[in-house]
Amino acid sequence: MVKGKRVGIVGAGNVGSTIAYSLAMLGTCHEIILRDNKMEIAKGKALDMSQAAAAVRSHTVVSVAEKMSDLTDCDIVVVTAGSPRLPGMSRDDLLMINAKITREVVEGIAKYSPNAIIIMVSNPLDVMTYVALRESGFERSRVIGMAGILDSARMAAFIQEKLGYGGGQIRASVMGGHGDDMVPLPRYSTVAGVPLSDLLTQNEIEEIVQRTRKGGAEIVALLQTGSAYYAPAKSTAIMIEAILKDTKQIHPCAVYLEGEYGYHDVVSGVPVMLGANGVEKIIEITLDDAEKEMFASSCASVQTLIDTLNTNKFFEGE
Ligand code: LAC
Repeated sequence: MVKGKRVGIVGAGNVGSTIAYSLAMLGTCHEIILRDNKMEIAKGKALDMSQAAAAVRSHTVVSVAEKMSDLTDCDIVVVTAGSPRLPGMSRDDLLMINAKITREVVEGIAKYSPNAIIIMVSNPLDVMTYVALRESGFERSRVIGMAGILDSARMAAFIQEKLGYGGGQIRASVMGGHGDDMVPLPRYSTVAGVPLSDLLTQNEIEEIVQRTRKGGAEIVALLQTGSAYYAPAKSTAIMIEAILKDTKQIHPCAVYLEGEYGYHDVVSGVPVMLGANGVEKIIEITLDDAEKEMFASSCASVQTLIDTLNTNKFFEGE
């Protein structure tokens, strides 16, 4: 059989299966392999999606890996596995439980798909990306967290809602970690090239910034039984497409910093160029003092969680 592009997805819950569906509809890859402990459900979803792909004449086939050792030779493996975020629960509450799950999954990826690019989606996102990097032993260009595209999309949607126009023409920019102190950048956000400050008042912009920071929690509070999945899944699919098609597009993604923006040994969201090799370039944009301060406190929050893992000797068992 001719080998086509293979994308593995660990965790076939709402986010994982919606990523698979999005890729299957677009025919972004040849094979999608779902891995989930709830095997029968994963098998049902895989069959359903393969049939949807046939309906739209997409060549993508969706199947199930019964064990991690069946998830071989993938070009990309997406990790959505983890305990879900429930109402009242912060992303950080998930830390220890999801770090252990991530370790187990990533060890399997490193063993059975050693050349894969890992895209992390599990929360708390930046720290899970850090754990995946440490536990895989992969170079940092191949371990990428999804959050910036999602947070920017939320900001763009809120700008459109506030303006009442501009849909499809909005470029919103969000940097920093995927937490309540993420760094929305109105100064780098435009509508058809028009700066936001020429269209909205400072108060209106501030409302958008605050709503963006709490965009995930707003949906958790409404759904009650879990967190958002359409926008998180589509944002992940955008990253996969950029990598598999080697588009060299710039997207905000969570990556391990080695001196960029003045930070070391921490993961945060920054604009990167995505291509066949994963993160092919990290772009350093100019931040003003206030933006630098916000980025610093976002990195400090992520650092606190990494410190918690260290205090609990998480990395010493490796
Ligand atoms: C969100 C959660 C999943 O932002 O972090 O929707």
